[in-house]
Amino acid sequence: MDAGSHHGFAARLAAVASETEALLARLLDDAPLPGEPMRPKRLISAMRHAVLGGGKRLRPFLLVESAALFGASRAGALMAGTALECLHCYSLVHDDLPAMDNDDLRRGQPTVHKAFDEATAILAGDALLTLAFDIVARGDVHADANVRSALVLELARAAGLGGMAGGQMLDLAAEGRFEPKRMLSESEIVTLQAMKTGALIRFACRAGAILGKADDKARTAIDRYGAAIGQAFQIADDLLDVEGDAAALGKAAHKDAAAGKATLVAVLGVARTRARLDALVAEAEDALAPFGAKADTLRAAAHFIAERRS
Ligand code: IPE
Ligand code: IPE
Ligand code: MG
Ligand code: MG
Ligand code: MG
Repeated sequence: MDAGSHHGFAARLAAVASETEALLARLLDDAPLPGEPMRPKRLISAMRHAVLGGGKRLRPFLLVESAALFGASRAGALMAGTALECLHCYSLVHDDLPAMDNDDLRRGQPTVHKAFDEATAILAGDALLTLAFDIVARGDVHADANVRSALVLELARAAGLGGMAGGQMLDLAAEGRFEPKRMLSESEIVTLQAMKTGALIRFACRAGAILGKADDKARTAIDRYGAAIGQAFQIADDLLDVEGDAAALGKAAHKDAAAGKATLVAVLGVARTRARLDALVAEAEDALAPFGAKADTLRAAAHFIAERRS
């Protein structure tokens, strides 16, 4: 099965993307919420720059489609997916800062610190991170407060010390910034990537199961799927850095090797890394086997992640 062969995959992804965009625009309204004295114009403009008008919206899509698999409400899943997208966009704003990857282009636009300034970019990231938790805690995500608090806990873990932020620390350390550079082993790279990128993607899948109150067996299966595609996602990103171009990617290419990034491509080479990617897609499909045809969209998503060109 190739990325486009599942009937309606592209249409389903586009639908989630446009619904997410609409929710993001609404949440970043000028009008203050009850209890907020006002919303600084420069900060809200920078936040809008970071989140609106670009991005594949893959994380909201995975959240909505796994929620659908477990019969959860689409409206609630879209809200949770929008929260996750805010958190993802924050991670991109900070990832692009001069002190981190130092990138000028993101989603075909100047990065937030280029369009505004570094201090504003840092604050826009902070405010997007906290907005994510504001959204997830809202009643329209799920009527059951226990479900919402489970999501808050999982999202915090996925984003934090043992998740995305921790993985970003390992990523920068692997460049040799803090100690003399040493080549990471394959398993160290797998761990780093499971944290920096895998954790948020895995959260998207687990959140669907939480919203749909799935049983333990189903949770384990969807979590295995999420872990496989999370790994696949960063491997595809690293291959695109080598093989893609800035025009198609909407961000700089051919930077990882020069920056000394720890990637599987650096350790295994392109051919063996591509074989690993294929094996992870097979692993993701295997994890979905218990769900039968109901999981066809998630199956197609695994192929999309591996075969994407941007
Ligand atoms: C880029 O994520 C950052 C990584 C984790 C590799 P995406 O490729 O999902 O970026 P957008 O949201 O589509 O721009
Ligand atoms: C990003 O990895 C992971 C994040 C947590 C943002 P990269 O640094 O490779 O992502 P790009 O290539 O800048 O999108
Ligand atoms: Mg980075
Ligand atoms: Mg980067
Ligand atoms: Mg990259």
